[in-house]
Amino acid sequence: MAASSRSRSPISRERCFHLVLICTILFIHSVPCCCSSSGEYFIVPLLHWTSLAASHARPLPALSQLQFFKEVKSLDDSRLLSIGASIRQSSNDLRARVISGASSGSGQYFVELSIGTPPQRFTLIVDTGSDLVWLRCSACTSGSCEDVGDGGAASQLLSTFHVRASSSYRAISCTSQSCFVVPPAPNFSCKDSSECRYEYTYSDSSSSTGILSIETISLNVSSASSSASTVNSPRELPDFAFGCGFHNVGQSFIGSNGVLGMGRGPISFVSQVGAAVGRKFSYCLVDFFRKPSLNSVLVAGDPPLTMRVPLQSTPLLTNPFRRSLYYVNVQEVRVNGVALFIPSDLWKLDEMGNGGTVVDTGTTFSVFVEPAYQRILSAMSTSSPLPKVEPVEGFDLCFNSTGLKSLTDLPNLSIVFQKNVVFAPPATNIFVDMPGSLKCLAMRGANRVFGFSVLGNLIQQNFLMQFDLQNSMLSFTSVDCSDAFR
Ligand SMILES: *[C@@H]1O[C@H](CO)[C@@H](O)[C@H](O)[C@H]1NC(C)=O
Ligand SMILES: *[C@@H]1O[C@H](CO)[C@@H](O)[C@H](O)[C@H]1NC(C)=O
Ligand SMILES: *[C@@H]1O[C@H](CO)[C@@H](O)[C@H](O)[C@H]1NC(C)=O
Ligand SMILES: *[C@@H]1O[C@H](CO)[C@@H](O)[C@H](O)[C@H]1NC(C)=O
Repeated sequence: MAASSRSRSPISRERCFHLVLICTILFIHSVPCCCSSSGEYFIVPLLHWTSLAASHARPLPALSQLQFFKEVKSLDDSRLLSIGASIRQSSNDLRARVISGASSGSGQYFVELSIGTPPQRFTLIVDTGSDLVWLRCSACTSGSCEDVGDGGAASQLLSTFHVRASSSYRAISCTSQSCFVVPPAPNFSCKDSSECRYEYTYSDSSSSTGILSIETISLNVSSASSSASTVNSPRELPDFAFGCGFHNVGQSFIGSNGVLGMGRGPISFVSQVGAAVGRKFSYCLVDFFRKPSLNSVLVAGDPPLTMRVPLQSTPLLTNPFRRSLYYVNVQEVRVNGVALFIPSDLWKLDEMGNGGTVVDTGTTFSVFVEPAYQRILSAMSTSSPLPKVEPVEGFDLCFNSTGLKSLTDLPNLSIVFQKNVVFAPPATNIFVDMPGSLKCLAMRGANRVFGFSVLGNLIQQNFLMQFDLQNSMLSFTSVDCSDAFR
């Protein structure tokens, strides 16, 4: 389901949206909108759900490899279904264009955020498909009375942000410009500059309702001009706008204290933090099977690494029906260096918002629309000396890798993006190990008509992925993410 399209002022709302975008950025930060890079960047560990302590996230029972991938697929399924549904819904509802429908928050990666004075610390789902940053909130001064929004076992594990325990907390007034970029709560009417009440609905119908607020957040800052060893020092960022969620419902948020929206809208984490360091963010995802496990990193600003390694760049495209999402333009797919015959219109993002290729951290396995996927599958299956075996349930292609001397015996895949830049993931990003020395292709097909392609988090591992919102470019390069920024 798309985020709510209820409008306080239906006539003017859409018209002034673009103005609001600009005003909001100015308003929130009280700094000039355009961002001279200071050489500083903020660095935040990205925690994969499998590595979180049981008290934080979905507790992870000892899953077999097979059960693990079943879980991964069902998480992927619900995310893809809900993103797809929200695109179709919003393309039927013109008013919804104003607010991008948030996707399911079901989390793959989490961050810890320190907020308030003195700081309170929370674990938030990172969502590149939505904009709002929100936390579970409580008006209590102590833990004795809890958020009434969502009783039940899950919430007992969760801490809430106690607004009265923070001296820097302020509610945003409903007359403020930034109130116009979040969907209003049902039946809300703005009287006497009352507080800005929002309702943010995710595409799987999870929602957070509360008060749009301002707080001071703390992040670690590093300086690009300093020597190779990173200097981590905490920095306070005042006037950070977030949703103080007093009523939060839905499957999406189980195990987290809220959501960190990383989308392209003005209220997202990147847009707000980016105003201080340039509207850019990067992440570098570590192989989540790595032992011992190591956190990935999220960087806001321009990391020093980009000075040392050349990045390849391709334009980011926007889907007017899902403005938060990051789309790239695929031109060609190659298997073992040979371009596949795939009509270019299969990759196109059409005027109804269907198709296209989304770069997404909330999905694990990559998805290709039919019949492009079938072409990839058949090229892969005929271009390896390894014996094919009956695929394991849930996979379409598996090789018996007994006796595999080098990963280069596996077929390789490269994706050519607009501007002729080649994304060539290693075999470990494309195949997963299954019991019995099998290597199975970690990709799937999607319906052509309503489907879209997705580059999931597995295929992005060990790439520095940099999103430049100012210039609408994605830059990337292959690096060892267990080494970068450490
Ligand atoms: C909104 O107002 C209508 C009509 O007054 C009422 O039926 C509905 O229950 C209200 N909804 C909420 C969420 O308060
Ligand atoms: C900053 O980094 C230090 C050391 O890595 C860590 O202990 C601290 O929690 C971090 N602070 C914030 C606000 O993330
Ligand atoms: C992919 O395979 C082709 C043919 O075996 C080879 O020429 C090419 O170098 C490989 N590409 C990568 C990135 O390994
Ligand atoms: C894989 O190949 C080995 C050696 O040829 C064989 O022993 C094993 O049974 C094969 N595994 C499967 C699942 O076919």
